[in-house]
Amino acid sequence: MITTIKKLKSIQQNYLSNQNIICIYNEKSDYHKLLLTSEELKYLKKQLKDEKEIISINQLNRFIHFVNIKEEKNINKYAENCRMIGDKLLLLVRDNENIQLVFDEYYKEQGLLITEGLALSNYTFTKHKTNQKPNKLKTINISHITDNEIIELQNILDAVYFTRDLINEPFSHLKAKDLADAAISCGKQNNIEVTILNKKKIEDLKMGGLLAVNKGSIDDPNFIIMQWKPKNASNKKPIVLVGKGIVYDTGGLSLKPTTNSMDLMKIDMGGAGTVIGTMQAIASNKVNKYVIGLVPATDNRPSGNAYAPGDVITMYDGTSVEVLNTDAEGRIILADALSFAKQYNPELVIDLATLTGAAVAAIGHYGFVSMHDGAEKDHTNLKLIGDQVHERLAEFPFWDDYDELIKSEIADIKNIGGAYGGAITAGKFLAHFADYPFIHIDLPAVYSKEKYGYRGKGATGMGVRLLYKFIKNRA
Ligand code: BES
Ligand code: ZN
Ligand code: ZN
Repeated sequence: MITTIKKLKSIQQNYLSNQNIICIYNEKSDYHKLLLTSEELKYLKKQLKDEKEIISINQLNRFIHFVNIKEEKNINKYAENCRMIGDKLLLLVRDNENIQLVFDEYYKEQGLLITEGLALSNYTFTKHKTNQKPNKLKTINISHITDNEIIELQNILDAVYFTRDLINEPFSHLKAKDLADAAISCGKQNNIEVTILNKKKIEDLKMGGLLAVNKGSIDDPNFIIMQWKPKNASNKKPIVLVGKGIVYDTGGLSLKPTTNSMDLMKIDMGGAGTVIGTMQAIASNKVNKYVIGLVPATDNRPSGNAYAPGDVITMYDGTSVEVLNTDAEGRIILADALSFAKQYNPELVIDLATLTGAAVAAIGHYGFVSMHDGAEKDHTNLKLIGDQVHERLAEFPFWDDYDELIKSEIADIKNIGGAYGGAITAGKFLAHFADYPFIHIDLPAVYSKEKYGYRGKGATGMGVRLLYKFIKNRA
């Protein structure tokens, strides 16, 4: 269930309304006097002195929750604090169907950030419960925001919800075909041109990586192509986003253990979910950039026919790969997509993938791990925007030394590196197939087992806000 953001028609209305109100406190404004009696105002002032962040006043017919935003010099921290206030507010307003969020012009930016946090926190995934209890809060009415700002925020929030839904959906309900269908319906709704390559076409193209990983599956693979090419695009050569679409990763014959490992692997299409959601955010907001999304999709499982450790396979671009671990499957399907991307003569290619446990081990679930090859400026900008939207990137080294670690005795390269630097050798494997400016993003933060602020529990949808803002602002 989406959370709808609406424009509050008239501020005057809410002086009298019996709907609950959230109000950003501004000491320079006397707006509060209109909402409160002098006794209540006195109480509020006292609480403010005690540096309370949220002060709730229980009036006869409504609650008013005053928000007192702490000063903070670091603007990125300040912004994140506002989103987190939104998360805290949800606990107070989750049982209201409607809530009004009022502030004066001066607090416009903060108002948007609090709304973002509140709405992202309000997400639930209850479709598989017999007694569904979806969120009660349906609408956030906000003041001092233009129609266009509301539409943009709404489209971004919907895209994050969409990405979370895709990633939270278990393998039983989301096969490669379902992922393709989701891309098709997203395309129809947002005027994105979507092409799905089926198994026959994938065979004709000789995508040996995708076919090898798919060998153990009972379902066909899919290769999803989403194209957003507006007439007013400011770039001639496209930006290509590539997402890992492993709808379930058992590890294949190099089978994973169940607890805290295979049991979480419905999220292994997190990169794909992020790419599809980002395409939606861009197209629904009619961003004037030419963008292509590519998703190779299959599950990875063992069977009599599964690819095996020790196999040598031939990739789409002709590279031979020695497969020494069938659980390092993401890089194998992504490699074919990265080679496929060359035909577009891209300006920049970014891949997003739940690629390695090593990235999770290195930084935990707090952010993403990134590397780049020949994309210094874009990577710097991406990192800056990551700090702004709090979907942060930790850059790993990408020294030539690591290339040595994926050399194979019997083939061109092998699909695993040495004992250390696993996230980097995985990136190096991908870079072998990229001959354009390339950024690789490993996604530890795409999923959180515990509730983590407005990111929630389960799929976080992280990456969509980052890529949206990066692409929109790219010169
Ligand atoms: N999908 C996993 C990586 C993963 C693990 C993502 C945990 C998120 C959480 C990937 O396909 C994988 O299994 N990678 C192996 C590579 C290894 C065999 C070189 C890994 O990281 O253990
Ligand atoms: Zn794996
Ligand atoms: Zn995987």
